[in-house]
Amino acid sequence: MKTRIKHIIQQGVETKTCAFSGWVRSVRASKDVCFIVINDGSTIDGIQVVAESTLSNFSYVSRLGTGSAVTVSGILVESPASGQKWEVMAGTIEIVGEADAAYPLQKKRHSFEYLRTISHLRPRTNTFGALFRLRSRLAQAVHRFFSEHDFLYVNTPIITASDCEGAGDLFRVSTLDASDPPVLNGHPDFSQDFFGQKTGLTVSGQLEGELFALAFGDIYTFGPTFRAENSNTARHASEFWMIEPEMAFATLADNADLAEKFITWLCRFALEECADDMAFFDKHIENGLIERINRVAYANFARMEYSDAIELLQRSGATFTYPVEWGLDLQTEHERYITEQIVGGPTFILNYPKDIKAFYMRQNDDGRTVAAMDLLVPKIGEIIGGSQREERLDRLEVRMTEMGIATEPLWWYLDSRRWGSCPHAGFGLGFERLVMYLSGMENIRDVIPFPRTPRHCEF
Ligand code: 4AD
Ligand code: MG
Repeated sequence: MKTRIKHIIQQGVETKTCAFSGWVRSVRASKDVCFIVINDGSTIDGIQVVAESTLSNFSYVSRLGTGSAVTVSGILVESPASGQKWEVMAGTIEIVGEADAAYPLQKKRHSFEYLRTISHLRPRTNTFGALFRLRSRLAQAVHRFFSEHDFLYVNTPIITASDCEGAGDLFRVSTLDASDPPVLNGHPDFSQDFFGQKTGLTVSGQLEGELFALAFGDIYTFGPTFRAENSNTARHASEFWMIEPEMAFATLADNADLAEKFITWLCRFALEECADDMAFFDKHIENGLIERINRVAYANFARMEYSDAIELLQRSGATFTYPVEWGLDLQTEHERYITEQIVGGPTFILNYPKDIKAFYMRQNDDGRTVAAMDLLVPKIGEIIGGSQREERLDRLEVRMTEMGIATEPLWWYLDSRRWGSCPHAGFGLGFERLVMYLSGMENIRDVIPFPRTPRHCEF
């Protein structure tokens, strides 16, 4: 049985003899001794293996290429060298899979742009090792948080017939012959398609999530989400993961409270339980990261009305590329200005104009805004979008008609307002945006294993 390097280092003196497998990160050889650093992905730290010339395959081992897979057995001893506490005196080194000089990860540092072109190999670098360990732990933390708060975990469908956000960004799912579809009245006849209707990949699990909230009280979804929006930015992916809690008998204020509790808890989780990897990000990706996250972990998030945000932006004297005017959506530059310059910390913007928001948001008494909320954070802008939902059947139907949304296909959604309707609210947290926020990585392509963006879908 192999032991993970993380455990060997943690156990320290108790280890004595050990055996482990991993990949060579570097080899330094002289005539009678050779130092090999091995990493097995379990921790940011590699372990230094010392091979002496008495080793039967010493000459072979001292010419090992970076990236080779090896299995080592030996004795753990305190390292006389600085920079590491322990090293392993090799008893045997078995070469499991060689890597020659063509292996692309020879240098200590490569640009993220270059590493994106070899996403099949980049998990073997320090940065992406730390990143994908953090991502994995955070996914588990999300489930832990909701489990501790008695939320039901529900898997909403990935193939769907409804476009929740109504933005028309659906990827079509079809088995029709694209070059020769059956035609009805000049259009493809989707009644002959696999599901007998037009279907696509989900842009949000919210609508189905609401149905479960109206049975279980508090629920959440956590799954892949797809958007065919042609926005080639550092924060948009065509395939990403979203966490969507939904609470029955809850208002917009409850919603913001949950979001604040959730984000601060995740910050504390990352600092406490991913300390080694966070220290790496602080040192190599963003100086001051730990201090920044630490401030958020114990912060009170600001709450600001959309109307006030517009006024503050207009009075700021700052110049923006996009116009700032009541009724227009906030662009990333505005969002960042608010959270970075005006507030200096995470900020909820509440009650947006109804005409820039989705049909399902609860209409406020002023007749012009809806109970929407976005959470803005420094460096990223919007990290969460959510709302209190329109629970009044008549108001919902009127709004859908106004917005030109057919009510008939959403009969099941309207039914939830027909029987046992109640105030309810929820939000969506983009998982990749969370990982970016906590790691300091600046491009969404670098926080998802195999990114999908417009004109890019490798593997
Ligand atoms: O603001 P959005 O569009 O809200 C919804 O989808 C609601 N149905 C959520 C809800 O109320 N249950 O998306 C929510 C979050 C955004 O704040 C952002 O973090 C992330 O999802 N997001 C994206 N992340 C990466 N790439 C994209 N293309 C994203 N679009 C949204
Ligand atoms: Mg949004």
